[in-house]
Amino acid sequence: MCGIIGYCGSNHATDILLDGLSKLEYRGYDSAGIALSQNEQRIETIKTTGKVQELRNKVMALAPKNSYCGIGHTRWATHGGVTETNAHPHSNGSVTLIHNGIIENYSEIALELAKVNKFPKSQTDTEIAAMLFSHLYNGNPLETIETACAKLEGAYAFCILFADHPNEIYCVRNASPLVAVENEFGSYIASDMTALIEYSKDYFIVPEHHVAKLTKNGIKLLNFAGNEVKPTMLHASWDADSAQKNGYAHFMLKEIHEQPDSLLTTIMPRIKNGVINFEEEQIPDSLFMNFSNIVITACGTAMNAGLVGKSLIEKVLRIPVSVEPASEFRYGDPIIDDKTLVMIISQSGETADSLAALHLAKERGSKTLAIVNVKGSSIARESDYVLYTHAGPEIAVASTKAFTVQMAALYLICGKIASVRNLLSQEQLHTFIEELSSLPKVIETALQLEPTLKEVSSMLSETSDCFFLGRGLDYPLACEGSLKLKEISYIHSEAYVAGELKHGPIALITDQVPVVAIVTNTITVPKMISNIREVKARGSKILVITDQDMSAYPDVADALIELPKTDELFTPFTISVAVQFLSYYVSLHRGLDVDQPRNLAKSVTVE
Ligand code: G6P
Repeated sequence: MCGIIGYCGSNHATDILLDGLSKLEYRGYDSAGIALSQNEQRIETIKTTGKVQELRNKVMALAPKNSYCGIGHTRWATHGGVTETNAHPHSNGSVTLIHNGIIENYSEIALELAKVNKFPKSQTDTEIAAMLFSHLYNGNPLETIETACAKLEGAYAFCILFADHPNEIYCVRNASPLVAVENEFGSYIASDMTALIEYSKDYFIVPEHHVAKLTKNGIKLLNFAGNEVKPTMLHASWDADSAQKNGYAHFMLKEIHEQPDSLLTTIMPRIKNGVINFEEEQIPDSLFMNFSNIVITACGTAMNAGLVGKSLIEKVLRIPVSVEPASEFRYGDPIIDDKTLVMIISQSGETADSLAALHLAKERGSKTLAIVNVKGSSIARESDYVLYTHAGPEIAVASTKAFTVQMAALYLICGKIASVRNLLSQEQLHTFIEELSSLPKVIETALQLEPTLKEVSSMLSETSDCFFLGRGLDYPLACEGSLKLKEISYIHSEAYVAGELKHGPIALITDQVPVVAIVTNTITVPKMISNIREVKARGSKILVITDQDMSAYPDVADALIELPKTDELFTPFTISVAVQFLSYYVSLHRGLDVDQPRNLAKSVTVE
């Protein structure tokens, strides 16, 4: 949700900023802009609506004077529409800044500023922040930042240029992410490491309420008292290649194909001598002994992974699990206490609602365990325990590999609880762990379904409405398949537990509404077949995704996707691959922007 970058050093800033913005574009792509610090205390700002390529064209046409220090922003609109005026950077007086986050009290600040005849040109909360910094500016950037931050409420990561401090960038954050690196060519700051990995793998997260001051000689991390603070360094375990398409047409396609590896690196280090082992993560067994119920909270795809976790844990362990969208959990006065284990699932580790849900769970005394992909992210740092998924950077807005490794993490946790509480026999546990270990291979096989899924995707590519049906563990996958399809193909799609269809939604079924039926839950196969027949009788074309022998029902499917056979508990993984390819090829057929669908952003750091 908005990508920001800053650079100060011996190279030309423009190239570094534009390249960085291209890599951050998945965070938002409504408009983009850069501001370049010029030695004669002048700051040159260039911005445009549209994608980073349009900014690049504009910058090339204007050929701005050489600058060795600047900031850049790619926007996901919150306050105010997609216009050039609303695009960042925003300037006022000596101050030019970029912002990721939301200033919640911006209207009160705007009223205060209006009293001294200061009015914004844009509709953004960011311009109000720029006006506040400028209004308070006393020639001392650090003091000004401290005073301004005391007045600002909400989430922010700011990179600020002060015209009378050329070739310096001042950065501060609250909740929204900022990471920094330096090398012999200068200092760099960005929303996340995808923009910086080519400059260094050693980085630090700017601590909240500290100021990172970037110059060509390096980065100084200062507290508000002006004292230098030693940053906590982290090391990225992936390299620049992981954030490239590497010959694939889209990041999404590449990420679908990366799933065997992501599963391998997420699962296998946690299985030692045939036992699930979280010692490296320093997650004690006692965490899994001393709770009476589990609440999983997350957003979007991560919540669908949570739904899989619920079905799995309730089925295998008979422990009650509820799944709450983080945006509801945080305001819903959830029934949790010190006997509840709250699990927060998040690819980015920065989703504002999930982070707020974590804060609430901690306030209520619950133990918190996060399943997070981005190392050192806010949710990872703030929860009591974290089980990292190792998917590497996920760039496509539609989540694929992050989803399967989130499920894998939940399966690991399920196996761990089973062993700590003796809820499965040795033999059952052994089989469970064997199945889990074989997932990378199974997914390898499932990937071979690609040509078939490409072909059958034509069943959906012209439609405007569609349903996904499933029962039991198949239902969360129906939710995920439906979400994936709608986000990248713009087809209206709904997921239903198949038995519910006849209680209303069946009124929407016509011969223009295809149905994707997921049929892997053995005990409900006959029921699913009946449900499919009900919609088929009303004209629907049916795509069945199954690992079952359907030869007894030759007439139900208009198209059939046969998944590789796995233990019944593990079908969510193979189904995932099928629904991912399906939505990918539908989006492709429709000529849409697969990796950057309209209105969406990868990391949602606002409420
Ligand atoms: C956005 C993304 C989704 C993602 C959700 C939660 O909506 O578009 O793909 O599932 O945020 O993100 P998180 O980083 O918390 O998993």
